[in-house]
Amino acid sequence: MSDVDFIKSHLGSHPDFPKKGIVFLDIFPLLRNPVAFETLITHFIHRLTSHTIPNSPTKKIDVIVGLDARGFLLGPLIALRLGAAFVPVRKRGKLPGQVVSAEYQKEYGTDIFEMQADAIQPGQTVVVVDDLIATGGSAKAAGELIAKQGGMTLEYLFIIELLFLKGGEKLDAPLYSIVQSD
Ligand code: HPA
Repeated sequence: MSDVDFIKSHLGSHPDFPKKGIVFLDIFPLLRNPVAFETLITHFIHRLTSHTIPNSPTKKIDVIVGLDARGFLLGPLIALRLGAAFVPVRKRGKLPGQVVSAEYQKEYGTDIFEMQADAIQPGQTVVVVDDLIATGGSAKAAGELIAKQGGMTLEYLFIIELLFLKGGEKLDAPLYSIVQSD
């Protein structure tokens, strides 16, 4: 079995969660199996170290940005293996000190994402990580926070991409997903 099929086989699927009509894809069964979790992280590291990011064939990655909340379960592992910094993007009001903010669209209304104002230095290269991209609103806001600090986003990484929502079209850098769902 390919590593992608192996990863896919450990995703959970929950019809009508959190409400009727939504099939919720769950990464936690994957994290419960250490071999599957290892395969996932190795897949991401291979992607980021094999010079396959379009337009940035040899760039060193300085910072991994993880999105609240499941991006926090992936980002630090990837950052440590790359020798990169890990920086969290959190929902409003959770981070101490000076922060930069960006608003994003949710299903109903808007929310605010924040990053500590000194987290990224101008010119640093950044990769954004989360478990899943749906409409792309939160990833787009993260990209805005990185741009506000002069960072350069090289790529957005996800385990799962919901293709029909076309979230990638909102982003200012290429998207890479391991599993695509429609
Ligand atoms: N899984 C996890 N998060 C999500 C999903 C899903 O299927 N859809 C929108 N956000």
